[in-house]
Amino acid sequence: MTIGVIKENQSGENRVALSPESTGKLVQQGHMVLVEKDAGKSAHFTDEAYTNAGGTIIATAEEVLGASGIIVKIQPPVPAEVAAMKEGTVLIGFLWALQNRELVDLLNKHKITALGMEALPRISRAQKMDALSAMSNIAGYKAILIGASLLGKYMPMLMTAAGTVAPSKVLVLGAGVAGLQAIATAKRLGAVVEAFDVRSVVKEQIESLGAKFLEVELEKEDTETAGGYAKELSEENKRRQQQAVHERSKVMDMIVTTALIPGRPAPKLITKAMVADMQPGTVIVDLAAEQGGNCELTKPGETYTTTNGVIIAGPLNIPASMPYHASQLYSRTALALLLHILKDGQLNLDFDDEITGHTTITHNGELVSPLMKGA
Ligand code: NAI
Repeated sequence: MTIGVIKENQSGENRVALSPESTGKLVQQGHMVLVEKDAGKSAHFTDEAYTNAGGTIIATAEEVLGASGIIVKIQPPVPAEVAAMKEGTVLIGFLWALQNRELVDLLNKHKITALGMEALPRISRAQKMDALSAMSNIAGYKAILIGASLLGKYMPMLMTAAGTVAPSKVLVLGAGVAGLQAIATAKRLGAVVEAFDVRSVVKEQIESLGAKFLEVELEKEDTETAGGYAKELSEENKRRQQQAVHERSKVMDMIVTTALIPGRPAPKLITKAMVADMQPGTVIVDLAAEQGGNCELTKPGETYTTTNGVIIAGPLNIPASMPYHASQLYSRTALALLLHILKDGQLNLDFDDEITGHTTITHNGELVSPLMKGA
């Protein structure tokens, strides 16, 4: 097969979908890999590294798109990119199909077989293809570094000749993949960490990382879906959670929020009133900024200080700020999915297979994934 990778052209996107490492693996299996010139430059992968791995450097994206049977991307393609692909091309990348209906229709119009990385079922068999988790891990790690650099305090306890410094207190709200990595990173930096999630099953995971589980007495209700995701809380339980978070946030130095509910706007966990009661210098890093934010005062893409001295950061596309590892890990997940749909070097799209069937959004002008039913 001929597999192509182009430079991601969205502003601020420094990642590249295929690394030289994955290129080498595909070439070893007899495939041809076309790489747009400078595709990996902002992720610190040189054209020479791709050539050494057996890839072929091509001058323009248009040529790569027109000559490849499979295209690997990160960001959803823009219309001009879709137009440059041949009918029947297989596209692998984030499509955010449910929120991007126009793109889905365009892909169908051009008869592109598009696999959405966000649509991958989260089953054990698919773990090595799970790009969302790989990127969430980076976001959780980086959120703490962003917060630490905005904090006017040390994170660890220090005993110096000038006296003892108390460790910073960090509260992490939402302990999925990003939240657990944020907890681990804050612990490594020496902070005292508390965390909360509506899914009570994560209590043990939080504690195993050395953090304290913030106990909130919730009215009995099912807070988790069969797929392991959170459900929206009842009004009474939202009130109880806000009350508990309000109390704890008065003494925190940093709050990292990562709470998401699939298909819903990010739950508002930090209200204006809570921010007003925080100590000056408290830092909030809102990882849900892209989905509207967990804090009522978050300005997506901005970092600013409120009148009472609370610093609120709403960073966007954090993985792009760590492009080397983000690209390397994304590329491994995309490669694993790609190898899953190849058999003896040829395309083998078995829609009865849960991974292929769930991830394939469009094929031959039709919607495939059960995710798109009724969408
Ligand atoms: P996510 O990004 O959808 O949400 C982040 C976290 O926010 C979740 O832990 C959720 O419970 C929490 N949350 C939602 N509303 C909240 C609220 N009001 N207050 C506090 N927390 C709230 O979740 P993510 O990180 O994608 O993981 C979701 C689940 O999927 C986890 O159980 C994870 O272990 C599981 N998973 C399974 C995989 C597999 O088996 N292949 C791979 C990755 C994740």
